[in-house]
Amino acid sequence: MASSTIPFARGLPVVGSVFDMARDIRAFMTDSYLELGPVYGMRLLNRRFTVLAGMEANRFLAREGTKHVRSFEFWSGFNAWFGAARSTLSADGPDHAAFRRTLRRGYSREYAVEHIDGLVDIARREIAMWPLSRSMPAVPALQRIVTDQVGTLVAGVSPRPYNDDLVRYVHGLLSATLVPGTYMRWSPRFRRASAQVDKLYHEVIECHTGTMRERHGAEPDLIDDLLDLHDADPKFFPEADLKIAAMGPFVAALDTVAGTTAFMLYALLRNPDVLAKVREEADALLNGDMPAEQALREMDATHRAAMETMRMYPVTPMLIRTAANSFEFAGHRIPAGERLIIATAVPHYLPEFFPEPERFDIDRYTPERAEHKQPYVYAPFGLGPHRCLGNGFAEVQIAVTMATILHEVDLDLDRAAYSLKTTQFPVPAPAESFKVRVKGRRGAVQPLADRKPWGALGGAVLGGALWGALGAEAAREAFRSMTPAHLGRRPLSR
Ligand code: HEM
Repeated sequence: MASSTIPFARGLPVVGSVFDMARDIRAFMTDSYLELGPVYGMRLLNRRFTVLAGMEANRFLAREGTKHVRSFEFWSGFNAWFGAARSTLSADGPDHAAFRRTLRRGYSREYAVEHIDGLVDIARREIAMWPLSRSMPAVPALQRIVTDQVGTLVAGVSPRPYNDDLVRYVHGLLSATLVPGTYMRWSPRFRRASAQVDKLYHEVIECHTGTMRERHGAEPDLIDDLLDLHDADPKFFPEADLKIAAMGPFVAALDTVAGTTAFMLYALLRNPDVLAKVREEADALLNGDMPAEQALREMDATHRAAMETMRMYPVTPMLIRTAANSFEFAGHRIPAGERLIIATAVPHYLPEFFPEPERFDIDRYTPERAEHKQPYVYAPFGLGPHRCLGNGFAEVQIAVTMATILHEVDLDLDRAAYSLKTTQFPVPAPAESFKVRVKGRRGAVQPLADRKPWGALGGAVLGGALWGALGAEAAREAFRSMTPAHLGRRPLSR
């Protein structure tokens, strides 16, 4: 017989569990699961949630999610900011399936593999700007790389000039989506960011329509696929819903891939033996000894290190849903309309599935151990119908970006004794205190060598000088104006 009395997780009056979550979402969810079982209530400021946790919650989401839960309510505020009624993340049922079909090609692993050169070029250009022997916060540096990669290669426009505004805009919206009222949406900074994101959107649409569409390059990209869907069925996919979908490539990697790559960098710097194996694979990819696709397939240690990073430091440790129908879960009745958190990363730290869970151990993923293959225990990309559509793209992007970094530079932690601090909102990421320092450059090919008359060394020296004289952001701007605006497959002749 199902019970409706659900235990409640620790928390404080007024704020609820905000401080526990702010320390470590995944750890708080896991501790509460161990103390209270797979269903418990919690509050985040003014919002109450029912949490479903553990392997049983993951199984429920994967097997019965379509019937019992939906995503619409959580994302509706986010949609509204873009003027949209629907988006891939908020849609459910047949509409959702149709959206995924349209996005599948542009966000696929195959698309990323076809564009390995572009991924490398963009990473190299940013790495060439990293100052020698100076400490540098890792997350923003990686955000610039990965957002540029997806924006340029998947949507045809480099978001470099908009980077800070994109971060501000997306973080503001995510915070407000999670806990309404938590940010100043009328602040001048946010409004400026919002205006800049509008500008970026118009740039993207402009270069995919009219004469620009014919001019902009080789094969169609994700924006072309979206515009085709709109042309074919403007009632199903109206212009008002286009902006949120077209901005997808600019936000998809901003926190997810950037955070994961930063966590991975920390883990590698802390585990020199693994670093050495990953670097060997990086050199094999970038020295061009074998075709890139083959080298990528052979990056076994890199792939396992990325998997272990996503187990230990999941950037999406929970998913938010609403109960569409009442249902029973672990002996409790959950009424329709209940706001739910599915704590997908809880099994990642349960020793019955991952022995010594606090240990960074890439051998968990060897065929002999294959700990991640136990059903419903490893879910960095979510589960069920909304499972990350870009997971294959992300895996390639992480591997290639990390390879380019390790091939090009020798890095150190800024402070040898540094122990990782994280921020948790709006998504988990290494804190600003996680800084790295370029000890030396080792890449045989520098990004500017084949493009600029002053060549690799000159580019690096000039970059360093500008950095010193002008400061990081001004140097980047100055350097940008000397390099081609778009390094993607399509040179935009504007
Ligand atoms: C480490 C990197 C990444 C992680 C951990 C990650 C994680 C996730 C998760 C957990 C979801 C499910 C959200 C939900 O169920 O509510 C999701 C959805 C999605 N992701 Fe990712 N993601 C990553 C990178 C990417 C990249 C690089 C792209 C695109 C190139 C991408 C595209 C998408 C899309 C389009 C969806 C929506 C799927 C749907 O609603 O049907 N993701 N991602």
